[in-house]
This record gives sequence, C-alpha cells and structure tokens, in this order.
Amino acid sequence: PLPQPFTRALPVPPVLAPTRTDGTTDYYELTAKEGTAEMVPGHRTRIWGYNGIFPGPTIEARSGRRVVVEHRNELPVPTTVHLHGGHTPPDSDGYPTDVLVRAGAELPHPKGHAPMPHDAFSVARGSRTYTYPLKQRAMTLWYHDHRMDFTGPQVYRGLAGFHLVRDDEDDRLPLPRGDREIPLMITDRAFDEDGQLKYPSLDSTLLRESGVENSYMKGVLGDVIMVNGVPWPLLEVSATRYRFRLLNASNARRYELELDPAPPGAPAFTQIGSDGGLLDRPRQHQRIPIAQAERFDLIIDFSRYKVGDEVTLVNKIGEKGTAQVMRFRVVRRATDDSRIPATLSDLGIYDELHGNEDSVARDFKFNGGDPWQINDKVFDVNRIDANPKLGSTEVWKLRTNQHHPVHLHMLQFKLLSRKGKPPRATDAGWKDTLDLFPGEDTLIVARWNGYPGRYVFHCHNLEHEDMAMMANIQVE
Ligand code: C2O
Ligand code: CU
Repeated sequence: PLPQPFTRALPVPPVLAPTRTDGTTDYYELTAKEGTAEMVPGHRTRIWGYNGIFPGPTIEARSGRRVVVEHRNELPVPTTVHLHGGHTPPDSDGYPTDVLVRAGAELPHPKGHAPMPHDAFSVARGSRTYTYPLKQRAMTLWYHDHRMDFTGPQVYRGLAGFHLVRDDEDDRLPLPRGDREIPLMITDRAFDEDGQLKYPSLDSTLLRESGVENSYMKGVLGDVIMVNGVPWPLLEVSATRYRFRLLNASNARRYELELDPAPPGAPAFTQIGSDGGLLDRPRQHQRIPIAQAERFDLIIDFSRYKVGDEVTLVNKIGEKGTAQVMRFRVVRRATDDSRIPATLSDLGIYDELHGNEDSVARDFKFNGGDPWQINDKVFDVNRIDANPKLGSTEVWKLRTNQHHPVHLHMLQFKLLSRKGKPPRATDAGWKDTLDLFPGEDTLIVARWNGYPGRYVFHCHNLEHEDMAMMANIQVE
C-alpha cells in the first residue's frame, strides 16, 4: 500500500526552542522516545524519534555561542548522540560506547561485530548532557544516533535531526531566507503490510545481537524515498530563488540528483555550500551526487519555470520509486530580492592546505565484506589507528575497491585529488564526509585544530559502520 507520490506537502521540521539562554549559552532538552508518524496512508508507523518525531526538531545555533543539550532516553535500548560535523570535545562527541540508558535500565551486552570489553562502556542513566562550543563557521550539521553496533537500525527508526549553525558572514549575504530557505533530509525506507518500518535486523529487540540478515551486507536500502519524513512530498513554490540544505540521511543509498525538466538555458543547481559551510564562490551543476551524510547547500531558481510548471527532483541512479525524490509546483509569481553573489565566503586556511603522494602521512584502505574493515582490521575500541598532533597538518590517502562514504569526526578537511587528478566539481569546499569511489585513491588534507582526545572515523554506510568499518583517531 505505497503512498501516492507528490500528493502530500513537504513538512519542515519544527525549530526547537531553548529552555533557557544566558550570555554565552543556549540550553536545550531533547527526549528520544517512541512516537508514530503517518508515512503510509491509513497507518500509524511506529518510530523512534527525538521528542518522538522524525526528523527530530531542528536546533538553530550561532557560531561561537555554546549549545548545551540535555538528551533524555526513554527508549528500551541504549542511545548515543553524535553531532555530525561538530567541532566537539571528545566527551560530548558521542563516542559509540558512551551510552545513555533509560532510567532504571541495565546496560545490555549484545553480541556485535567488534570485540567489546564490558568496561569499554561509559554509561549514563536517564539523561546525558552534551556541550557544543560551536567554534566553527556557519554550516549544516545534523545529529543522529551513534550507538555501538546499532547505529543502522536506530537511525532507520528515526533518530536524526538538523542542527544549523549560523554566523554573520552567512547572514549578510543576500541569499533566499525565511520560508525560502528549507532543509531537506532525504532518506529511503521500506514498509511492511501493516505500514511499519521494515529493517532486516537479526534481532529486532536490538538488545541481544547486532547485525542484519546476510543478504544486506552491502547495507539496507528501502523502496520509498522520503524527504523530511514524508514519502515523495510536494512543495508549492513561487517563481523565485530558494535555498535548500540537502542532507542524505539514508543508511546505505547514494543519489545522483537532477531536475526534471531541467530549467531551460541554465544549470539546474547553484551550489553555495558543502558539508562545512559556504564555498568561496558559487558552482553550477546539472547533477548532484550525494553520498550518505553529505550535505549540499543549493539554490534552485524557479523563475526559470512558468507558473503551473511541475519540476521533479529525480535520482538518476534509482529505479522505480527510488528514481524520484520530491516534486516542486510553481504556483505564483512573487518579488525576489535575493541574489547569489559572485564571492560567497573566505574559506580561512583552505588555500594554505596542500599536499601530494610524497606528503601522505597515513594510508587507509576500506576493504573487507564480512566483516567490513579498515586496513584489514575490524574496529577495536582499544586500538589507536591514527594519532595526529593537535594543530598539525596531515595528508591522508584513502582507498577502496568498493563504494564507501568516509567520515571523520571533529573537523572538516579538503580534497586534494582523486586518482592523481583534481577532485570533482562537487567536491569543492570543506568536507567531513567523502564519497570514496572504487579504484580512486583519494588524498585529503586536514589541520587538526580542535580538541585532544579520542574520536572515530568510519564508513557512513551505517550497516558497514555497525559491521566494524570504524577506527580510532587519538588527537595528541
Ligand atoms: Cu554521521 Cu560518526 O557519524
Ligand atoms: Cu562502507
């Protein structure tokens, strides 16, 4: 009983109000709990969401102003919260074994893919406070579950939300704002006959054993594409520019997005930002490839269409239902005082970062299958796989023989090359997640400014992550 595409309006997740604010800090509370959502007509789908909704409420933060979030857990399983893209000290970064259990509950010790001593867990009960200094530029962040061995099923049930950081530089630009600035969280899901989310867990309680059925080793894909929690939604737009903050929050699906029909005489998308905020200058694209956890900040100019036109955001590598994402209907003319300036931003130290094969400091191979591995090793909580010095600059080489979206915690990096050639046009700007292609040895460079301590890096195909494709960074 799949929903009819392009009939339901695109929802925008509510912005969370702080419980209090002071001179330096905004305080928030979020509760992970069960809820229901109308995803399939005539059914109430059970979800796990922050405040019981999917996507969770959006946190709107200011660069340099501290955000403190008290996360409560009312779910029957442990949770861990990671702010993806955040420059966060280790104790608030949501290390996979820093878990939060429901008040009064015991910590379960399920069988996972990585060796996991019981004393590796740091356990909070009822609630846990996460402190985010947010000493970082404006960018689209998102928060999601990161529980050891169970990130895939827990995010799939709905534990994900936006966290936007704004700053004066971004605010001063004449870009579309207000209801013409919209976050889009794209996910794929599958449903059973009763309209419930279908995920092939070996153990649906998520308490005894991690992992998915054998045929899902490559990751869990759904046949329904949802944007902001609604299958194939419709957005009525005026014939003006819009700013969309795209996030691929799918567990295992990549997309290659185009507009159908493409606007006459001009590229479909103007990219103004990447994972790590604004680009130096806009880039034009006809197609946007977006891997899991990547973000694209895009302008679509609907003035190139006529009132009454319908424009579909399509996925060129999908089939049937997964070949379509959402639809825009141009319903009216309107004045538009927005502009896309030729210069967007100062990227800070971006241009100072260089490197080539001779300067490679570390080399990581994403390989395996069952289990998934980095440099032929499964994740080990006690093994340090990289130990950059605080403030140092390092070139890393990443390679694979299959597709893996690679994510580093704590910072954004710059792509230097793919297979010795310049990166793709869609690789521009600061990145924290990289679409790593088979056979394309990729060089990245990062300056390890931030905080000392232990962080993870991993494949953001969430089933691969749960199947141990993760490693430790110790910033010294
Ligand atoms: Cu978006 Cu380590 O995660
Ligand atoms: Cu992977």
